[in-house]
Amino acid sequence: MSMATPPRIASNQMIRLLDAGLRYSATFAVLLIVFVWNTVTLAADPVRAERGMVVSASEIASEVGAEVLRDGGNAVDAAVATAFALAVTHPAAGNIGGGGFLVFRSADGEVVCYDFREMAPAAASPTMFLTEGKYDYGKHHNSHLSVGVPGTVDGLHLAWKDHGCLRWRRLIEPAIALARDGFEVSPGLAESLSGVLESMKTYPASMAQFSNEGRPYAAGEILKQPDLAKTLERIASQGPSGFYDGITARLIEAEMQAHGGMITRDDLKHYAAIRRQPVRGTYRGYDIISMPPPSSGGTALIEMLNILEGYDLRESGSGSAATVHHIAEAMRRAYADRAQYLGDPDFNPEMPIARLISKDYAKILHGTINNDRASVSTPTSFDWGYESDETTHFSVVDAERNAVSLTYTLENSYGSKIVVAGGGFLLNNEMGDFNAAPDLTTAEGLIGTPPNLAQPRKRMLSSMTPTIVAKDGKLFMVTGSPGGRTIINTVLLTIINAIDFGMNAQEAVDAGRFHHQWLPDRIVYERFSLSPETINLLQAKGHSLKESRRQGVAEIIIFDAANDRIEGGIDRRQQDGGAGIQ
Ligand code: DON
Repeated sequence: MSMATPPRIASNQMIRLLDAGLRYSATFAVLLIVFVWNTVTLAADPVRAERGMVVSASEIASEVGAEVLRDGGNAVDAAVATAFALAVTHPAAGNIGGGGFLVFRSADGEVVCYDFREMAPAAASPTMFLTEGKYDYGKHHNSHLSVGVPGTVDGLHLAWKDHGCLRWRRLIEPAIALARDGFEVSPGLAESLSGVLESMKTYPASMAQFSNEGRPYAAGEILKQPDLAKTLERIASQGPSGFYDGITARLIEAEMQAHGGMITRDDLKHYAAIRRQPVRGTYRGYDIISMPPPSSGGTALIEMLNILEGYDLRESGSGSAATVHHIAEAMRRAYADRAQYLGDPDFNPEMPIARLISKDYAKILHGTINNDRASVSTPTSFDWGYESDETTHFSVVDAERNAVSLTYTLENSYGSKIVVAGGGFLLNNEMGDFNAAPDLTTAEGLIGTPPNLAQPRKRMLSSMTPTIVAKDGKLFMVTGSPGGRTIINTVLLTIINAIDFGMNAQEAVDAGRFHHQWLPDRIVYERFSLSPETINLLQAKGHSLKESRRQGVAEIIIFDAANDRIEGGIDRRQQDGGAGIQ
């Protein structure tokens, strides 16, 4: 017994110990699984590369850009090739018949912007969107009158002339091949094309190009665009004259004359892309380099960042009511100023840009924000018209760390829906970005303020915000997005996500987004991006909130200086995006 008892006690203890051990290890295992699961589900790995990268809304186009980098091209070469490829593979927004902006920063810190925004034709006037004195939405947004003189080809050529090192033709050849030989329609493109065909029905050349003999393309079928291939071939061999002169110009003029449009060959000859100095600001020691007017993007972005420097967002935390409140109040103020002051600089020489992006002005605005109460927006003399959700942005960094941030657009998805007969390319409907008519400011959302009324050869105000961020003289981030007026706020959030919240490129893109644009007076937030309690707290401060399906499609690159490598964030809010790696 005496011999037997101790072992029994021992074995009881052993069992208890074993039991406890098992329980601890089970608990530990569960915690480990939860931790690993959280790490797996909450964090996201960006695409990483040691040398160069292109991140765009089309994997095929990104690969075209990456191939240019592998071939010895620099970031500008890759951007030009990617832009032409997108005009083929991402026809909703990639274009040669639209316009946009490119921000370039060389590895040693030289910066320049290229403004290739569309221009109004010479016959344009502030009242051109009126019919018998009444505002005519169709004229403004869906007609041959809604087409601005395209800028993309001239803008890409100007940037290439200044910085490119490969042959011009080399950069367009991949796009020619994609248009001539065709490419496989992805599920995303099939869905997008089937959605747009109805509104193309009145334009036979558009139907011929984007339907498969009248029916929507199915995923997996091959889309060929032979007329587009020919136009691209003319641009490859003649440069911008292949678009603004000769056959292409004649085709555009004929298209206009046949349908009451205004653009003439003379307008096309007069088109000129412009080099501009970026607007620059700082945010917590980072340099912000962005697009000046005629985009409102850079000015509003820097104004918001300056205001937000006065808050410790890291402390208040991503997605908290305090953070969202302060950001929304900064958005509200910057968008009010955007409406009041901004337009084409060539027609508005007195715009107070320097004041709007100054730290002193931000301090004044900061002083008007109550931590506990939402401000109230009133339609003093302006409100916002409708803007659609189709544009495209891409980012490029090469092995030297030269960087390009490029956003361009046709305005609406597939622009005016008008394919130039015989030319094979879509025309924009960017004239819709001009204000509706003089003094026509209504509670329903029309604006009639002078800075952005249509005038001959004027550029319409934009929200596109291609942006580059640097730190200590080195590249830090390339960012931008589509999304109409939401663009500026989407770009703002990607920058805050990276700088304040330390997110990597993929996390900065994935994080939920929200938008305030002064009027209507509300925060529009992506579904599931704010917790129910955050929403309650914001409502208690007096904010009104509205849910949206998604906001923007940011395709960004972050340079990880410590490891001398770059990381790409691909926005999965839209299908087909991808990174091409050198
Ligand atoms: O220039 C602008 O701000 C608008 N035309 C852009 C349109 C847009 O972003 C639609 N996009 N997703």
